[in-house]
Amino acid sequence: MTNIILCGGSGTRLWPISRTLMPKQFVKLFNDKSLFQLTVERNAKACDHQFIVSNAEQYFLALDQLEEPGIHSTFNIQHSTFLLEPVGRNTAPAIALACLNIDAEEIVLVTPSDHLIKNETAYLEAVSTAKLAAEEGNLVTFGIEPTYPETGFGYIEAKSRDSEKLEVGSGKFSVLDVRKFHEKPNAETAQKYLDAGNYYWNSGMFCFKAGLFLDELKKYAPEIYEACLEAYENEQEITQGQLRIRHEDMMAIPDESIDYAVMEKSDKVKVIPCDIGWSDLGSFDALYDELEKDENGNTLNDNHISLDSKNNLVIADDRTIATIDVEGLMIVDTGDALLVSKKGSSQKVKEVVKHLKEKG
Ligand code: GDD
Ligand code: MG
Repeated sequence: MTNIILCGGSGTRLWPISRTLMPKQFVKLFNDKSLFQLTVERNAKACDHQFIVSNAEQYFLALDQLEEPGIHSTFNIQHSTFLLEPVGRNTAPAIALACLNIDAEEIVLVTPSDHLIKNETAYLEAVSTAKLAAEEGNLVTFGIEPTYPETGFGYIEAKSRDSEKLEVGSGKFSVLDVRKFHEKPNAETAQKYLDAGNYYWNSGMFCFKAGLFLDELKKYAPEIYEACLEAYENEQEITQGQLRIRHEDMMAIPDESIDYAVMEKSDKVKVIPCDIGWSDLGSFDALYDELEKDENGNTLNDNHISLDSKNNLVIADDRTIATIDVEGLMIVDTGDALLVSKKGSSQKVKEVVKHLKEKG
């Protein structure tokens, strides 16, 4: 099985630690490892080849992180291929360009590079069930039980929670038929999905035959397929294991996610509901929940002096941050930028990034 690792996103919701040249997936957030490194290590246990699709600007960053001693020993870098995009055109083209370079019968496991999965054993079991279901000609998704009406996720509507299962694997995980895939609903619709009980969050991971994905893309988004095919035919192999797409070819590809281009339309989608300790770390609030904390609920940081302060997230690399009598704050200092936010408001960070972009 080949792991397609998507790492071309910019992760604006974790500004200022996530920046254009150092996006979230490469920031060392947990035990001095980045989410990208954790993704590679985790999936090397199930896959014998990695196909890393990233922005050309991040090639050396990704390579450096793969060559770090602790990471290097867990997988064979000779089995990695980099596919470098001059500009990102979202996930449908990124996955299609990788699949065009892979044997049509090969099962691929598509994973984002910026998520946290805490229960690796359960994850690997779910992946091996997904592989069996993919061999039978399905586009397999990994569903997470929703806990609140998130509008930033896709929702997978299973036909029912327990009937119409595909019988594959140990039986520990169900492979359910999907009635419909719904990408990013509004708040009212998300609440309806939550109440209905047969909807799962799409974790953004997929498992299918490379050729089947391309067939479905050709059927439902032929303009993306054709433009990707053209780009693939013109792609350049810089060195062994490093493929580059030409700028003009990339610009000609429509910008669309796999979710809108294929998943919402295909009738071959299945879902494996799984409890794997998943978080997409899409905000500082989500990050706070996952980081280790002291007895006062403050995140652990040697640069933080806390006087009677509780439940604060403090991330500071160089400067000392002192807090007195404050509660529920998010303080993120990177030297050239400082974010101070109330807990619960961290989704608004992307508006700050919008302001910065407008200012130029
Ligand atoms: N190579 C490459 N090129 N990777 C990309 C590009 C691109 O142009 N755009 C995004 N990615 C990578 C991101 O780095 C991330 O790892 C992954 O693809 C998903 O993209 P996001 O931009 O983070 O998508 P999203 O969070 O809005 O939505 C997706 O993930 C949700 C779960 O976190 C969807 O699949 C939703 O349905 C899902 O619920
Ligand atoms: Mg995301």
